[in-house]
Amino acid sequence: MATTQAMTQDELKQAVAQAAVDYIQPKLVDDIIVGIGTGSTANFFIDLLAAHKGKIQGTVASSEASAERLKGHGIPVYDLNSVDEIAVYVDGADETNERLELIKGGGGALTREKIVAAASKEFVCIVDGSKWVGKLGEFPLPVEVIPMARSYVARELVKLGGNPILREGFTTDNGNIILDVHNLDIAVPCQIEEKINGITGVVCNGLFALKPADVLIIGRESGVETVTSGS
Ligand code: 5RP
Repeated sequence: MATTQAMTQDELKQAVAQAAVDYIQPKLVDDIIVGIGTGSTANFFIDLLAAHKGKIQGTVASSEASAERLKGHGIPVYDLNSVDEIAVYVDGADETNERLELIKGGGGALTREKIVAAASKEFVCIVDGSKWVGKLGEFPLPVEVIPMARSYVARELVKLGGNPILREGFTTDNGNIILDVHNLDIAVPCQIEEKINGITGVVCNGLFALKPADVLIIGRESGVETVTSGS
């Protein structure tokens, strides 16, 4: 009797990346700019997008790493300041809840990711099922910080109930450091996002709650599901 093998996490990531390519296909008639995220799931998307590179005007990348990968496929990469509109942004996440609020920044690209997401008409988030949570915060919340503010910001994050740990040996594409905040009670994600944004010296935090994803494509053993905000 034939046995069915469970899909690996990479196979699920590839499946959602393919689903994202299928999702944006109808938009490709308009020679659009596509915003590109960062991380292993985004990498699968980049590799699959390569087959359609002739149908898009180009991309805006959320990290140097993604820009390099895109260029390696011969896909044009534009500076955000030189484009008028990004039709759709496709990126992974470290956690998502049912309201499509996210924790991002496991790869340290949270600030550029948030900028490209903000500048895009639609944010399509692609994740494997392990990223789905009832409450955000099991994954330590990444916070990008101006280096000279490290200790001050860390003390302020402790006051919020978190345990900030410096990401050792890591510098962001913007020349800053990352504090990964453990044990934060993220009961109301929008409030925590605003509070952390309000700490002087914080560049950005990895909560995407004030502006969550518009569409979530999630891959589970049972299949790929597309969830839209409000559904
Ligand atoms: C990078 C990110 C990534 O989207 C997040 O870390 C998920 O990564 P992966 O697709 O490798 O699981 O926010 O800053």
